[in-house]
Amino acid sequence: MEILKSPRDMRATAEEFRRQDLSLGLVPTMGYFHEGHLSLMRRARADCQRVVVSLFVNPAQFGPGEDLGRYPRDFERDRDLAAAEGVDVMFAPDAADMYPESYATYVDVERLTAGLCGARRPGHFRGVATVVTKLLNICRPTAAYFGRKDYQQAQVIKRLVADLNFDVKIEVLPIVREADGLAMSSRNQYLTAEERRQAACLFRALARAQELYAAGETRPGRFVDEMTAVITAQPPARVDYAEVVDAEELTPAGTVEAGNVAVVAAFLNQTRLIDNTILGKEYLGAEVNTC
Ligand SMILES: Nc1ncnc2c1ncn2[C@@H]1O[C@H](COP(=O)(O)OP(=O)(O)OP(=O)(O)O)[C@@H](O)[C@H]1O
Ligand SMILES: [Mg+2]
Repeated sequence: MEILKSPRDMRATAEEFRRQDLSLGLVPTMGYFHEGHLSLMRRARADCQRVVVSLFVNPAQFGPGEDLGRYPRDFERDRDLAAAEGVDVMFAPDAADMYPESYATYVDVERLTAGLCGARRPGHFRGVATVVTKLLNICRPTAAYFGRKDYQQAQVIKRLVADLNFDVKIEVLPIVREADGLAMSSRNQYLTAEERRQAACLFRALARAQELYAAGETRPGRFVDEMTAVITAQPPARVDYAEVVDAEELTPAGTVEAGNVAVVAAFLNQTRLIDNTILGKEYLGAEVNTC
């Protein structure tokens, strides 16, 4: 596996892949890999002739009081895991090369970023949309792979690619979960053993939403109340948001129907976690590992 740091070198390598007419899969990440990341790499490896994994803790998507400085990092471990998945190139640029002092351009996806994480983390999706735009331009991939754990992010990226006429296929892959249902996340690393146990309440809230749906409930308020109750019943967990939204526009559902997405964000003390489920489309049983 080749490791490239400079955007210029990455671009030259990508140009060479293009010249040889090789399909290229891009997996954008912030590193500290878990099975969620590896599932994206495996799918890219199966689909494409060349695979690039980018590893960049993007300062532009962190708010002032957030965890940029203490975000978990382990370059050697990540490098070895990516190499073991058969990744061809790891692109790990420095922030100073992605955002030089002269930097002045940002990408704003409107409306889709107004609610949910966009409302709670002002500027977050502007940072995500900007870095993904840069990565797509540097790597010029045939396909780019994202996880459904970050549901709003995936919708924002799909819309940005459509709106800005990027010639890339966006693939959104299932959520990889721990045995108790907790969605894998690099930020799970922040949890103490006790918080880690308590964190399963997000999944239980989503399982409850699927139960309500299966029982014929269509009033969004009932879903919000029940999901909130499940999370609140597990102190110190605190709900940041719990909603049922339209799958494309992310606006609150009027009457809940199949394909709507139940989304939750909750704090375990300082750590903020997110999760979601597509109502009527997946079974959240105890021993399900990916859904
Ligand atoms: N549990 C998961 N299952 C599937 N994909 C995932 C999972 N967790 C993250 N991903 C995807 O991996 C890609 C890289 O995400 P990132 O490096 O931010 O990891 P992360 O676990 O989301 O970290 P954090 O929660 O700290 O943001 C994103 O497309 C994200 O949606
Ligand atoms: Mg993430």
